Amino acid sequence: MSTSSQIRRIGVPELRARKGEEPIVSLTAYTAPMARMLDPHVDFLLVGDSLGMLVYGFESTLPVTLDMMIAHGAAVVRGSERACIVVDMPFGTYEASPEIAYANCARVLAETGCAAVKLEGGVAMAETIAFLTARGIPVLAHIGLTPQSVNAFGGFKVQGRGEDRAAEVLADARAVEAAGAFGIVIEGVPEPLARTITQETKIPTIGIGASPACDGQVLVTEDMVGMFGTFTPKFAKRYAELGEQLGEVAATYAEEVRARSFPGQEHCFDAAPAAAALKKNG
Ligand code: KIV
Repeated sequence: MSTSSQIRRIGVPELRARKGEEPIVSLTAYTAPMARMLDPHVDFLLVGDSLGMLVYGFESTLPVTLDMMIAHGAAVVRGSERACIVVDMPFGTYEASPEIAYANCARVLAETGCAAVKLEGGVAMAETIAFLTARGIPVLAHIGLTPQSVNAFGGFKVQGRGEDRAAEVLADARAVEAAGAFGIVIEGVPEPLARTITQETKIPTIGIGASPACDGQVLVTEDMVGMFGTFTPKFAKRYAELGEQLGEVAATYAEEVRARSFPGQEHCFDAAPAAAALKKNG
């Protein structure tokens, strides 16, 4: 019998049932220590492929590999006990066919222990989402400003402006819902469009640069705490300036090392007796 803690993880059906109820709270996490800190406060942790920029220093999410997502997904599962864990499918691992998507999503679920995958796309991905969900793989869809399409969009630009484009994004939402997605991340669209999608779908919408009317919100944790350089997207509220604080702490440490005031006696092993013995023998 397991002796591990009795805390039960939030599951996909519980998230699904939150449509129109208490807002769903989500943040990104890529490592076990970060997962441990955020776990008590969120409903689901998203192991986003934004780790390509935030952990690996790439300019976009496109170079992120399945192995990277699996390594970070497994770390976040190990570091958490309560939150539902959703792992992003990286670019090139699910678009070619439902069968390829199934093989790669199954690896992610089996090798990380996560509960669900997230993939980008609406109408174009509906067949794949139906194939996955019919075979037991819960899918969180991601529509609007989908960062893996940065080249097609010509940059990270708000999507769904104007009647025709808004109708396309709404059609994406309807398609992924009909295909069996348990929720929809809506990123970077006009606020009234996100509100309309939320009203017109029966599955939870999770907003990022979307609308307070969404059924939940997600932020990239590093954006939220000021740990990603100077650029913060308009939609990311900076609740802290940890990057600035880290710089100040590193400067103090450097000063103390150079002045030999760090380490102190309290940071050394057997320091006082050793010094006394040396003195006596000398
Ligand atoms: O990769 C990511 O972190 C995401 C969120 C921005 C939704 O997809």
